[in-house]
Amino acid sequence: MHVLVTGGAGFIGAHACVALAARGHRVSIVDNFANSCRGVLPRLALLTGSAVDCRCLDIRDRAALAELFASTRFDAVIHFAALKAVGESCERPLEYFDNNICGTVSLLQAMSAAGVRRLVFSSSATVYGTPEAVPVREDARLDVTNPYGRTKLVNEQLVDDLCRFDPAFAVANLRYFNPVGAHPSGLIGEDPGGIPNNLMPYVCQVAAGRRACLRVFGGDYPTIDGTGVRDYIHVVDLARAHVDALEYLMDTGRPLTVNLGTGRGISVLELLRAFEYASGRQIPHEIVHRRPGDVAEVYADPSLAARVLGWKAELGLDAMCRDAWHWQSLNPDGYLSRTRPGQRVAASARPPVTAGADAVLRGG
Ligand code: NAD
Ligand code: WQD
Repeated sequence: MHVLVTGGAGFIGAHACVALAARGHRVSIVDNFANSCRGVLPRLALLTGSAVDCRCLDIRDRAALAELFASTRFDAVIHFAALKAVGESCERPLEYFDNNICGTVSLLQAMSAAGVRRLVFSSSATVYGTPEAVPVREDARLDVTNPYGRTKLVNEQLVDDLCRFDPAFAVANLRYFNPVGAHPSGLIGEDPGGIPNNLMPYVCQVAAGRRACLRVFGGDYPTIDGTGVRDYIHVVDLARAHVDALEYLMDTGRPLTVNLGTGRGISVLELLRAFEYASGRQIPHEIVHRRPGDVAEVYADPSLAARVLGWKAELGLDAMCRDAWHWQSLNPDGYLSRTRPGQRVAASARPPVTAGADAVLRGG
């Protein structure tokens, strides 16, 4: 298949490109580099074995998307492109509605016009809000608590309606729990700009000495040790699920909504201990007040994905911490070179396919 990956330069998208290539699929990326940089491209070339076709394009640019779909025949789309910071979404809800909802509508219009009707959509466990019970099943009550979550829920509803009223469309909504880790090569990983919002990248930066101390948000939750419990999932397992979902859509033409998690809840302190073991470093931390909006405990019932897709998470917490630390220690400043919005990815920026990993990691 030739698969268009929106947001393919980002954390999860890049890993999905590697997983697609490993299963023999051809990949094209569109990304506006709002939260990524083109330094990922040479690394993707190294991991996939060929130069990556990447266009710097905002998915809300309908004319540019129409031109792309007119010039290239895609079999399917995986749609990662979105803004994803919960706190920022509360400060700038309209920006999130525009980027994440209008962006999806623009993409669906381009797909429909071109007759491309298979889509895998990046949804999130955030659509469950504060779950009534754990583990969370797909038929749990949906209840979002912030504008970012709203965009995920609205997108799911839009694509569900599209599949209902135009049965030629088939969409898989994949509800990720907490993606962490990195590719075991250390070539690609999570590269947050500024102060990380999420636990694992923050822990990585404390271990690397970039930040002094982790603040553990809340020590008085009704959980195993008082700290928040989440379902962390290795990004390599998550990436593989996208290929499984895509192949399922192509085979069956049936829409699908599934959780992607391990089914195991891990507390903040458990993650810290595992990270200290994997990195051999102490993580200074202090327990502070709860973070507003946080819930005590969320983890998935992943059994539907196992039944329908034959997918199961294979990598545990130790591998998540080991690979996150490997990525962090090899790339203390992430991918380094960031593009400006609107800047095109020049042909000269295409990856050196013969370069070795060492050269790429040195910035080659
Ligand atoms: P990311 O920010 O690393 O990747 C998103 C990519 O989309 C970035 O490269 C960004 O530049 C691009 N992008 C954003 N808006 C765009 C637009 N209008 N046009 C073109 N490109 C655009 O995020 P990620 O962690 O890789 O997340 C990927 C997807 O998974 C997102 O939809 C996110 O909401 C969803 N998700 C992420 C998590 C998580 O914890 N990382 C959890 C659940 C769901
Ligand atoms: C995990 C645990 C924190 C940072 C978020 C989004 C969700 C989804 C995934 C996109 C919690 C604690 C964190 C820190 C801490 N994203 N923590 N100190 O909040 O479960 O989910 O990312 O869809 O929508 O809300 O992930 O990594 O921020 O937090 O103690 O500095 O770590 O309180 O218990 P979260 P997280």
